[in-house]
Amino acid sequence: TIAANEDIRRRIRTIPDFPKPGIQFRDITTLLLDGEGLSLTVERMLEQVEGPVDLVAGIEARGFVFAPALALALGAGVLLIRKDGKLPGATIAEDYALEYGTDRITIHADACAPGANVLLVDDLIATGGTARAAVRLLRKAGATVRQAAFVIDLPDLGGAAALRQDNISVTSLVA
Ligand code: PRP
Ligand code: HPA
Repeated sequence: TIAANEDIRRRIRTIPDFPKPGIQFRDITTLLLDGEGLSLTVERMLEQVEGPVDLVAGIEARGFVFAPALALALGAGVLLIRKDGKLPGATIAEDYALEYGTDRITIHADACAPGANVLLVDDLIATGGTARAAVRLLRKAGATVRQAAFVIDLPDLGGAAALRQDNISVTSLVA
């Protein structure tokens, strides 16, 4: 329902040439500053949730905005997927490719019970490198991951298609 989400789309700002020349950066800070925009976004994401959810896993940093909002409505907990070096306990990690080099995300090794139903959440999917690493990480921890929910999909970058190949139902509000 792209037409129905025009009210969300128009609250997202595009900043040219950030962080590098040629990149059109989709900036959700304007959506978040708008109370109606924020509540519409959370409501529409909730409408797309499929099946039981024990934990909502948010990806640092902007996934942390949406994960608790969804979790509170679903009666689920929040699992923080953090960049390397931030979590104090024993962790498991997954690396993913960047344009130059690699990055690493981590969760606590004991963050989820085997078979827990985990909904993955982030603000945006581009190449899918981050979200696919998150799915590998959660599955390594024993979680059942069937869905990933985003506010924005950049379909030309192929991330959502790649994630579907990993047996994930991918939902988004704005392309
Ligand atoms: C952005 C975005 C996603 C990821 C999407 O985060 O919030 O997490 O990139 O890109 P991908 O699909 O190509 O992996 P970023 O790495 O900029 O981190 P931040 O939220 O800490 O700013
Ligand atoms: N906006 C926000 N985060 C991003 C983008 C974007 O356009 N592309 C990759 N990560």
